[in-house]
Amino acid sequence: MDDQAARLRLLVGDKKPGSGVTKLGKSVSDQNGQQEEHFSPRTIAITSGKGGVGKTNLTVNLAIALGNMGKRVIVIDADMGMANVDILLGTTSRVNLMSLLDPDVELENVLLRGPYGVSYISGGSGMEHAMEMTVAEREILFRKLAGCEEWADIILIDTGAGIGNNVLDFLASADEVLLITTPEPTALTDAYAVMKGYSNITANPNLKLIVNRVIDEPEIREVVGTLSRTAARFLKLPVECLGYIYDDKLMIKSVRQQVPIMAGYPDAISAKCISSIASGLVNGRQEKVKLGWRGFLKKIFKS
Ligand SMILES: Nc1ncnc2c1ncn2[C@@H]1O[C@H](COP(=O)(O)OP(=O)(O)O)[C@@H](O)[C@H]1O
Ligand SMILES: [Mg+2]
Repeated sequence: MDDQAARLRLLVGDKKPGSGVTKLGKSVSDQNGQQEEHFSPRTIAITSGKGGVGKTNLTVNLAIALGNMGKRVIVIDADMGMANVDILLGTTSRVNLMSLLDPDVELENVLLRGPYGVSYISGGSGMEHAMEMTVAEREILFRKLAGCEEWADIILIDTGAGIGNNVLDFLASADEVLLITTPEPTALTDAYAVMKGYSNITANPNLKLIVNRVIDEPEIREVVGTLSRTAARFLKLPVECLGYIYDDKLMIKSVRQQVPIMAGYPDAISAKCISSIASGLVNGRQEKVKLGWRGFLKKIFKS
């Protein structure tokens, strides 16, 4: 186990424990020196180190599972390279977040009501190129997107994989981060790299692990144990496991059929695992909304 931890750190080029990381970024409440209590949806970024480990599947199916629990959910497809919420839902959207720059386009036009009750916004390249936009353009996007507050209890942001600046911006701007990995050594190494990048940029870390495509329980324990111990010791980052999803042929089938597993095979083992993750989010430790949706947008569009 320790060998594996050492290998993870070596591959990611980690420093010794206690070598000190610079923590940037403060929550709105920290900056004001007081807690702001107003309703804002929970913002949850779903991310991974390696691509293809199951982010989009989890995001879409989690949205359905949370919807079944009576929560209003909006999915933001913010994986610039591989935006494929559409594909999993079997839909095509002609509008995306950038369309909001058109004076005739309002939030209602880009907030798509997809099948199975999934509401989503295609990110397009809008968030990726936020820094290249004029102040006026960013202000428009901020103002129009802020309206999502009225439509959602929870906003799920499907980010790209890895530790590029855009992805880390999303993680630092969301109140909660769900890091998804498979048990494969390459995925674990890349997941650890995300933990490291994330712990460097946030003063209020809130990261939970989800292990996807697991074969049995010992495997879950080993993955969670290794990652959480290494993160606690070398990054001082607390990491808890929110859940796991079994490797499931029906999941592959549902992707091919373009019907999310929660809708097509709700009794499948992987669908049950996702339902349990959804109840963990809703019924687990009560999370405080810190930055909320407006805080997220403010950080992304820096307006
Ligand atoms: N629990 C699972 N069991 C079996 N296959 C899975 C599971 N989760 C994901 N997959 C497979 O992995 C592929 C990639 O998933 P996807 O959600 O698109 O990954 P990402 O968004 O991280 O790139 C899916 O198309 C599916 O075939
Ligand atoms: Mg994806």
